[in-house]
Order: sequence, then C-alpha cells, then structure tokens
Amino acid sequence: MSLQAQLEALKADSLKKIQEALELNGLNEIRVNLLGKKGPITEVLRGMKDLTAEERPKIGSFANEIKSELQAAIEAKKAELEAAALSKALAAETLDITLPGKPISGGNSHILTQIMEEIEDIFVGMGYQIVEGYEVESDHYNFERMNLPKDHPARDMQDTFYISEDILVRTHTSPVQARTMEKHDFSKGALKMISPGKVFRRDTDDATHSHQFHQIEGLVVDKGITMADLKGTLQAVMQKMFGENRSIRLRPSYFPFTEPSVEVDVSCFKCGGAGCNVCKHTGWIEILGAGMVHPRVLEMSGIDSTVYTGFAFGLGPDRVAMLRYGVNDIRNFYLNDQRFLQQFKTKE
Ligand code: PHE
Repeated sequence: MSLQAQLEALKADSLKKIQEALELNGLNEIRVNLLGKKGPITEVLRGMKDLTAEERPKIGSFANEIKSELQAAIEAKKAELEAAALSKALAAETLDITLPGKPISGGNSHILTQIMEEIEDIFVGMGYQIVEGYEVESDHYNFERMNLPKDHPARDMQDTFYISEDILVRTHTSPVQARTMEKHDFSKGALKMISPGKVFRRDTDDATHSHQFHQIEGLVVDKGITMADLKGTLQAVMQKMFGENRSIRLRPSYFPFTEPSVEVDVSCFKCGGAGCNVCKHTGWIEILGAGMVHPRVLEMSGIDSTVYTGFAFGLGPDRVAMLRYGVNDIRNFYLNDQRFLQQFKTKE
C-alpha cells in the first residue's frame, strides 16, 4: 500500500474512533495516541525515506493536513462531549426557578411604636416639632424645674429609681418642656413641640401599672395662648385618633407644673357615650392630663410669664393602645410574647 493510501486509511479509521468516543477521558486518550510522538502518523512518515524527492513534500504536507483535520475533529468532539456533560449535570441538579422562595419573616414595629408614630404624624401635621429627651435625667429637670422642689408632697406620686442622689430615670416626659423652653428663640416664632418616650416609676406592676411605660409630652408657648387653644387642639387631636364624632370634656385636676390643671376625657369611641365596658358605663374615657404652663415653670426657663403663656399635656400611648385594642393588661406590651405582638402586624 502506498504511503498516501496508508495515510488515507489511518485518517478514516481515526475519524471513526474520534466519532465513537463516548466520554472526555477516552477522547483524550485517542488524541494522545494519534498525535503523539509514537503515534501511527509518525510511524507512517518513517517510510518517507524511501520516497523520491518529488513525492516527499507532497506526503509531508498531506500528513500535516491529516494531523490538523484530526485535531479539528478532536476539538469538535470535545466541545460536543463537554456540552453533553454539562446538560447532563444540569438535568441532574434540576432547579425549579418557578418554585416560590422561602419566606423571610420581616420585622414589625411594636404596637406602641405604631401608636406613637401615628400621634407624631398628627402633631407634625399641625406644625409641631418632635423633640427627644433623656431617659436618664437629673432631679433638677425632672422635678425642680417642673415646680416640684425637694420637699414637695406631689413628689410622692412619682417615686422613681435613683441612680445617684441627683440622677434618676425620669418619671415623666415633662423635663423635656424645661429643656426645650430654655433653648427656644421666640424671635423665630411660637414654641410647639411634642416629646414621646419611655418613663419609669417605682410602681407595683399590675394590670394597669408597669414600672416602665410611655408618655407623649406636648407643649405650646407663645404670646396670648389660652385654655381655649388647649381645648381646641386636644379636641382636634382626639377626633383624629378616635374618630370625627368624638368630643372632649375637661375636669379640674392638679399638677404642680400647670395652673389651672385638667384631666381630659374623650367621649367613648366604642359606644359613643351611651355607656359600655370600655368606658366603664360612664360614656367618657380619661385620656390625658393637661393645663396651662405654671408661670413659675416659664420663669425658671427664662421666659417672661407676663408676656408669654402656654399649655402642656401628657398623653399615655400605652393607655391609648389598651383602649383601642381591648388589651386588659399593660404588661403584655413588655413581655415580648410573639403571640401577643404578632396580632399588630402591619406587614406580611
Ligand atoms: N407629667 C404629668 C404626669 O406624668 C402629665 C402632664 C404633662 C400633666 C403635662 C400636665 C401637663 O402625670
């Protein structure tokens, strides 16, 4: 058989082997065998020495052609086998992208945070600024500046936890009144602020008392502020919180830092005033304490009480939440029991 014929036969045979390769390892073996130094092509080319000078380059270039053809065939087969291996792997680890993902349970604001934010929104809409106070306060701001000197009997109503003789956890948000008033620049307009936050008292915990609870302090100071402004403001706020048909009533009360002082009741949002379990059959719900800022409190904050007057109020978000949702034990808010808290989920 001529060299040419041998090479043709080798080519046909090799192409067949390549075509029949079933996996990448086998194909690689074929490649090494065919194209390696000891491979059949090299072997055939050994016979070149018997050829004429004319034939030699022809066979040489034919042999090179075959080499590159086989190389190309191997590459093509390799790509084919790789693709097959990939689709086999993909099929084995099927991933159904239409399957819904595992839900991540998102967090949710605590019900008291929700109520406080709702009330903040109402006041921001009325032009009030929101002021943050300190939970750890000085006796000076918590009591003295609120017209509760050291020996004042009304201090007994607000016994608290002392950190030192003069430092305590605040018993109410009222110290924020003094801190805000002493800084306010009246040339820039009226002082209108609310201050929500935690307060603490040395109470015995029961269904309606917790040693920690919340208040939202409100304060407006300007020239010519009267009790009518207080009443009108609270009427509007109560309507926003409990419904358009609500009315309020004021009853005389006492706070050392307001004069006159009032308790404010709102007509019952459940029965509308007829009497039910929520309003204890009185038609009214006691909702907050308020009054006209005591002139001494204004003066202690450097405000001329002959020129400026103001009103203040203290509202309890815990109580609002209890009334609105029929929660009968204030301690539920602080137990971190998910069964309780999840009832006030706003997001899914
Ligand atoms: N600080 C009072 C309390 O805790 C509430 C209050 C605030 C009353 C402002 C009148 C004016 O009882």
